[in-house]
Amino acid sequence: VIDRLEEELHGDFAAFFERAERERRWSVAEDVPWETAAPAPPSPELVLRVETFFLAKALAPALLARDAALAATSPTIAAHLAGWAYEASKHALAFGEWLIRRCARSRGDLLALARRAGARPAAPVASGAAGVAYGSLLLETATFVLHARHREHAARAGDAALVVLHDFAARDELAHARFHEAVMRRHLAADREAVLAEMARVLGRFEMPDASAVPDWDARVTSFAAVGFDRGAFVRRVYLPTLRRIRVERRELVRALPARSRASTAPPRLGDRPS
Ligand SMILES: [Fe+2]
Repeated sequence: VIDRLEEELHGDFAAFFERAERERRWSVAEDVPWETAAPAPPSPELVLRVETFFLAKALAPALLARDAALAATSPTIAAHLAGWAYEASKHALAFGEWLIRRCARSRGDLLALARRAGARPAAPVASGAAGVAYGSLLLETATFVLHARHREHAARAGDAALVVLHDFAARDELAHARFHEAVMRRHLAADREAVLAEMARVLGRFEMPDASAVPDWDARVTSFAAVGFDRGAFVRRVYLPTLRRIRVERRELVRALPARSRASTAPPRLGDRPS
């Protein structure tokens, strides 16, 4: 049975996709100023950060596999996941291209890294569509904030190609976040109590995907914190603004939790290893 919520979500997806086709498509080969040389070879820290972006995007197939069962329940979710994986794969190609062109990594290095990162199945963040959408919303918003910060870092390093890469990626991530916000508002309008309960469960379990499979994870978290993105930034720039935009109060989430887990309603921790 196709209910009203599913029809609404499909309409939102159709509009989101059409806008992406008209306003957001870009070419890795043609739209990035690769010929503009950076003033100096990239520092090891910069290489590690770009490689971390590459890795995060290269996890798309693992996340796709994680959400395959959910996709089978809805043509809209399946179509959205396919489009999302296309964009994430393009981002991985683009940041990988930067690493290759700056002579920091070989294509074989990157493939080996991507294979290692995707080797362990990602743990599901939720069982329902609303919970998965909420986890995705937090992740899309965090990724947008990260690209925006690293863009400034790339600009200071004088790397024009990297600035443009972060700009394209940030624009894409913001569009993904806005779409997931619309999805969450639809779900909340359809069954607020049930969705709040799902969101509350996601809170305690939210992790960066598959972090423990990523080599040098601690060094990466440290290097992201060094450009001003740590747990506090996550709460201020991602968690709280997200709740405001989908019009949910923090105390509503606390109330939605079973009493015994209320003590564990701390905001999600970015970069923690899955336990
Ligand atoms: Fe995204």
